[in-house]
Parts: sequence; C-alpha cells; structure tokens
Amino acid sequence: MAGRPRVVVTRRLPGPVEAKLTEAFDTVLNVEDRALTPDELAEAVRSADALLPTVTDRITAEVLSAEPRRTAIVANFGVGYNNIDIAAAKANGVVVTNTPDVLTDCTADTAMTLLLSVARRAGEGERQLRAGAWTGWRPTHLLGTKVTGKTLGIVGMGRIGRAVARRAHHGFGMRILYFEPFPVPETEIAGLDAQRVDSLEELLAGSDFVSLHCPATPETHHLINAETLGTMKPGAFLINSARGDVVDEAALVEALGAGTIAGAGLDVYEGEPRVSPGLLEMENVVLFPHLGSATKETRVAMGLRAFENLLAFFRGDRPRDRVN
Ligand code: DGY
Repeated sequence: MAGRPRVVVTRRLPGPVEAKLTEAFDTVLNVEDRALTPDELAEAVRSADALLPTVTDRITAEVLSAEPRRTAIVANFGVGYNNIDIAAAKANGVVVTNTPDVLTDCTADTAMTLLLSVARRAGEGERQLRAGAWTGWRPTHLLGTKVTGKTLGIVGMGRIGRAVARRAHHGFGMRILYFEPFPVPETEIAGLDAQRVDSLEELLAGSDFVSLHCPATPETHHLINAETLGTMKPGAFLINSARGDVVDEAALVEALGAGTIAGAGLDVYEGEPRVSPGLLEMENVVLFPHLGSATKETRVAMGLRAFENLLAFFRGDRPRDRVN
C-alpha cells in the first residue's frame, strides 16, 4: 500500500485514542460526532482502507458491497458486533475485529448497578427527592427487595456473565444459576458454586433476578418474550445489559404492567435510542442510556484495542480480535 492506510472513524473517541490513530494512520475523524448515514458509510468503504465504527453503526451488506470497495478491515469499537453483517464481510473478504476483555468489568458493574437500583427502588427514590416530595424517614417508605442471599440466573456465562456472577456471589452472597449452551471451563467458575441448568425455562423459574449476557444472534432474538416472561417468578427482576434485541420490549412492557414480574433494569433497547414509551412511564424500571462500558478507562482501552487490531492488520499479521 502506498502511503499510510486511511482509516475512517465514525464517532469521536477519547483523546488519547484519536492521538494514536492520527499518528499512525491517515485518520478521518468525525469532528461533528453525529451518526454517519448509510450513504456516508458506503462512501467510507469506497474511500478508506479501514473503518472504525461503533456498535450503533449498521455496517450492512449494502454498505460492505459499495463499489469500488477499498476497505479491507472493519475494526469495531465494541465487543458486540451484531451491528455488522458478518456473512457479507466474509463474502467480500473484509476482516472484522471487536474489543473483548477490556470492557468486561465495567459492563458487569453496570449490570450490578441496575440490579441493585431496581431492587432498592433507587431511581424512584431519587425522583421523589428531587421533586421535593420526600416527607422524611418512615418505616414503610419505599420498601424494596433484599438482594443478599437471593438467586441470580445468568443467561450467557461468557466473560461478562462470569464477572457478574463473581460480583453477585462474593459481594452479595447470591446463589448462581446459569444457562449457557457452550462449555464453560471449570477453572473460570471455581469458587462460585454456580449451578448449570439445562433450559432457559428452568433458569427463569428458579431465579429472583435474571441477568442477560448473551450476544444478539438470530437464536437469541426475543429470547425473552411473553411466554418466557410468564415462566419467571412474579417477584423477579429482569436485567438487560446485553443487547436490546434479546428482549421483546413490547412483551416486557405488558408483563411489567400486568405484574407478571416485579421490575426491570435496562441498559439496552430494541430500537436505540428509542425507548418504548410504556417503559418511560413505569416506576418499577431503571433505565440507563447504554452505559455498559462507559468509563474513561474502559473507553480508552477499547479504542486502543481497536487501534492495535488495525496496526496488526496493516503490518500483515492476524489481528488478535478477528471474529470472522
Ligand atoms: C459493546 O461493546 O458491545 C458494548 O455494548 C458497548 O458499550
């Protein structure tokens, strides 16, 4: 390749990451920090050797087949890559990478924050206080649900699921159930006393809290729906910091309204940034704007991981986080 590889970065990244990218590559930064349109993404595929998109950019088959295509690698800023049509990338010979490991702890912290907040009615309490409606301490005020000692059901016992299990078990004495179709190395769950269950239904029926940590795939689309919500305990809470598509949001609104489950803590939504209006009106839900990995440390680490994947690729090596 003549000259430095050209890299189109679709959103603003933390300063140290942009500095590294600019030093190593002919980097095109999105100074306005607005989502690129499908036409702009296709133009980037025609004009740049690499794309560095985020989990909200839809890198579709159409974008990837823009002609004449110059892009040879898509280095996603995020561990989830359901925003990229992997089959189309493969068909076009485009390498795709993600950013695992570095966001595990912060995403697990977010899941625990949602779990504790919804159980202890933290959002409700804060809204009440800020509205000037708090009349003072009293024994029956905003009684929540005790977390310590309860059963947490984890759907997807990968890196993040296991990090949540460690926090819940060692920090809050929770009993852990998990549902995971793939083998989980014994060494990864040692000391958690975690019990594997054979079906999602068994997990849902036995858990006081259910936390989702599976990727968004055709198999997990609407895994949580009217029927599966109906098998949860009436007093149970659903936590989703994985992907919006795993939950049928309309069915969740219905279930929360009908008291089928007690509450939900959500970081991700089916039509982000749109959130079902029904959820916005409910007190028994805690809603975060996709903050899973949003710490200064982690977002820098994610950017550096994407940067290292690009460096390896343009050096002629296999990037460590290649997913296709
Ligand atoms: C990811 O990396 O998939 C996260 O959702 C970004 O926060």
